[in-house]
Amino acid sequence: MISVRNLVKEYSTRAGTLRILDGVSLDVNLGHAAVVMGPSGSGKSTLLHILGTLDEPTSGEVVLGDANPFRLGAVDRANFRNQQIGFVFQDHQLMPQCSVLENVLVPLLARSRSTQENAHYTDRARMLLDTVGLSLRLQHRPAELSGGEKQRAAIARALLLEPTILLCDEPTGNLDQASGNAVGDCLTEILGDNGPAMVLVTHNSAFANRFEQIFTVQNGILIQ
Ligand SMILES: Nc1ncnc2c1ncn2[C@@H]1O[C@H](COP(=O)(O)OP(=O)(O)O)[C@@H](O)[C@H]1O
Ligand SMILES: [Mg+2]
Repeated sequence: MISVRNLVKEYSTRAGTLRILDGVSLDVNLGHAAVVMGPSGSGKSTLLHILGTLDEPTSGEVVLGDANPFRLGAVDRANFRNQQIGFVFQDHQLMPQCSVLENVLVPLLARSRSTQENAHYTDRARMLLDTVGLSLRLQHRPAELSGGEKQRAAIARALLLEPTILLCDEPTGNLDQASGNAVGDCLTEILGDNGPAMVLVTHNSAFANRFEQIFTVQNGILIQ
């Protein structure tokens, strides 16, 4: 679950302090999704980066699961991020030299693990690739996939370690409508029981309308 209260984010620049987020509050339960829309430059990615613990808030409370990750030291926070948070970006960011199956297993590289764990996650990677409709593409390289297939592989990778939070920044931004719909199908399928709490940034209102809570960032706050 995600619980954000009064989140403020400022950047100091040569032109003075820029207040990008000015008191954002947001709750997303496990198995549910919130969509964030808004013009370019309004602070959507800034919000996702903070939820992903990649950037620190200026003030405000962020609780992810049962922890405030900003109270953890750098190493514990990195472990928390690896274990609890999955990311999907506008660019799939798959490794070109690796197969689809190997790409989905990449999050495992950051952890020490046993042979048993390797076998468990290899099975899980195959299961996830089946869920996103790529069971016949396991040995393909990213260059041999369509844009939508690459993005679906990126979703499978984000879900490998069973994160409690999935953050997607314009996941259909580079896709045509049909491929975007297929990505939307994958994301709606993993909601519900046992699904992560999801926050999705998008400009695509047809995509946004598939999810329950839709917000717009306006003047640094979220409007429903
Ligand atoms: N590291 C930074 N330093 C200064 N300003 C930044 C930094 N990162 C983002 N910004 C500014 O914050 C605003 C919001 O950026 P961003 O969250 O990327 O917008 P969005 O994703 O909604 O298009 C932009 O005006 C951007 O220039
Ligand atoms: Mg952005």
